[in-house]
Amino acid sequence: MQTLTVALGERSYPIHIGVNLLTRTDLILPHLLQAQVAIVTNTTVAPLYLAKLANALRASGVMVQEIILPDGEVHKNWQTLNQIFDALLAGHCERKTTLIALGGGVIGDLTGFAAACYLRGVPFIQIPTTLLAQVDSSVGGKTGINHPLGKNMIGAFYQPGLVLADINTLHTLPARELSAGLAEVIKYGLIYDATFFDWLATNMSALRALDTATLTYAIEHSCAIKAAIVAQDERESGLRALLNLGHTFGHAIESGMGYGNWLHGEAVAAGTVLAADLSCRMGWLTQNDVDRLRALYRAAGLPDSAPNLGVDAYLKWMGLDKKVENGRIRFVLLRRIGEAVTTADVPAELLSACLPGA
Ligand code: NAD
Ligand code: GLY
Repeated sequence: MQTLTVALGERSYPIHIGVNLLTRTDLILPHLLQAQVAIVTNTTVAPLYLAKLANALRASGVMVQEIILPDGEVHKNWQTLNQIFDALLAGHCERKTTLIALGGGVIGDLTGFAAACYLRGVPFIQIPTTLLAQVDSSVGGKTGINHPLGKNMIGAFYQPGLVLADINTLHTLPARELSAGLAEVIKYGLIYDATFFDWLATNMSALRALDTATLTYAIEHSCAIKAAIVAQDERESGLRALLNLGHTFGHAIESGMGYGNWLHGEAVAAGTVLAADLSCRMGWLTQNDVDRLRALYRAAGLPDSAPNLGVDAYLKWMGLDKKVENGRIRFVLLRRIGEAVTTADVPAELLSACLPGA
């Protein structure tokens, strides 16, 4: 097992990464304020892993409530959030009850937001079961839900007390979902670490074949980069925005195509290709690097081009991005592979030229 720390003073917390961690209640118990938890999961993950976790906790003397939500990005909304509150109130959950998110990024974001709001804040633990959640969404405390007018628009920064990433859970993950997680892994190489980008190009087949040592390294390295960034800029006043590479375009694709039709990671990959194209038009990234990036997405089983929503639709959806300041979109672009920057100084004609449908 590898252990990292997200260093946030008295709100610091460990990330444990390894195999067979779901039943390691010795890692969970020290983080409970009382022997009562509510596990939030969904109809897909529950039959796979809920009993394993819940039984291990019950055997350790913990009272466990199970909350099983419908599966899917389309359910990351107020109605589903309210289902969590209904269950917590009906189950008499108290201030010291810990919420445990067992699932992918949708369950993690919903549960974290519920924990931030319920009784004005209760402790929570992330047990991510998708690659995307293990390398990104379970770490850093961004929680929230979608609004029909924009993705992740309602939410809170609220850190978990523990992240437990059991690599074994990835063996039941559909290949398309694994690829979606690889988009976020590739992101870390692009924004922060050119050597890691090259390592990914060499090791992509082993990653897709779920080789344990290769996966462990990729997850640990991704979490280390994310933890370092979050420790410096928890509330995204600067550096953390770089983690949104490809997301301004990607959220437009997700919203424009209808939530759930393009997976988040797929939209981020296609969005990053647009960001790379724009970076090239700005005179920063070389065409050769854009081609290398697209080749790595193909090797990861991801799209290497964006859908044609039309320029107006892209501009409309991108105008709803959280990074809009004074009505101007702030883009995350690439100076080179391994170095990202944010800028609002993008000539309108360059932006329009890189959008599909131009
Ligand atoms: P997801 O949560 O929808 O999970 C993908 C699918 O895999 C779902 O059908 C899920 O039920 C299923 N699943 C989960 N674990 C499984 C397993 N072990 N075996 C089989 N099936 C399994 O999607 P995701 O890609 O994990 O997360 C995407 C979400 O995360 C988006 O809503 C995105 O906005 C959010 N996100 C949040 C952050 C953050 O910092 N909070 C960062 C990135 C993404
Ligand atoms: N996934 C982007 C962030 O956590 O900041």
